[in-house]
Amino acid sequence: MSDRYAVIGNPVAHSKSPWIHAEFARATGQDIEYLRLEAPLDGFGRTVEEFRAAGGKGANVTLPFKEEAFRHCAALSPRARAAQAVNTLIFDSAGVRGDNTDGAGLLRDLTANLGRAIAGRRILLMGAGGAARGVLGPLAEAGAARIVIANRTPAKAAQLVASHPRAPLEARGYEALAGNSFDLVINATSAGLGGGSVELPEGIFRPDALAYELVYGRDTPFLAFARAAGAAACDGTGMLVEQAAESFFLWRGVRPQTAPVIAALRVR
Ligand code: ATR
Repeated sequence: MSDRYAVIGNPVAHSKSPWIHAEFARATGQDIEYLRLEAPLDGFGRTVEEFRAAGGKGANVTLPFKEEAFRHCAALSPRARAAQAVNTLIFDSAGVRGDNTDGAGLLRDLTANLGRAIAGRRILLMGAGGAARGVLGPLAEAGAARIVIANRTPAKAAQLVASHPRAPLEARGYEALAGNSFDLVINATSAGLGGGSVELPEGIFRPDALAYELVYGRDTPFLAFARAAGAAACDGTGMLVEQAAESFFLWRGVRPQTAPVIAALRVR
């Protein structure tokens, strides 16, 4: 029987993970089966344990369960601990281990695929919720000159800053961004999902700046704003595939090529 994995979320019907992992498995000759499991909102832990008891080897975790997955694990990687969220479960004899590949996926997309340097750059991270926390650790370790975290509720941005005392971080409200400019602006708010937008002041993008939207597969008001301001704009498709590749590597010990999968997803 093939080794079985799954993505667990609610809703999960539109997840691209089964397709991405099937492509990775085909390209690397790995014999796996990858399912979609919709857990009831009050039944994440039950769903994980049933899948594990049925012989599952591991799982990806998506909205809204990443924080609950963090609490469910018997062991955690340092990056999962820093993110306080888990997107990858590994089932072994010791129990359920949790990791978080989101930040590594973003960093790899930015640097390897998009050719952007982080070291020495000024970065604006918009949002201070789960998505922002998930990517902040790897970003903060990549040598940025400064990372400003802007959030509608400034106290949450201040908390994130406090959780990385050695990194060059700073918390601001959006209204305090006027007069500042950045090489990289990352939208980690959920505002784009509802078609809403966050107001950014004019001049926020430096020449050659990149605007990166963590949401994938749709043109959000943030991306439209960035293009109109002359910045390069990119959605989270590359990050989605890179975080999946990192999970695949944790499970199978093989690193799949991502470029063909990203290209195929962009035209689908
Ligand atoms: P996620 O896991 O997607 O990050 P979350 O933890 O609920 O979800 O965080 C959502 C983020 O989007 C928060 O930073 C939130 O700002 P607040 O902390 O002030 O709530 C931000 N957000 C959501 N809708 C927004 C909007 N319309 N304008 C600005 N920020 C918004």
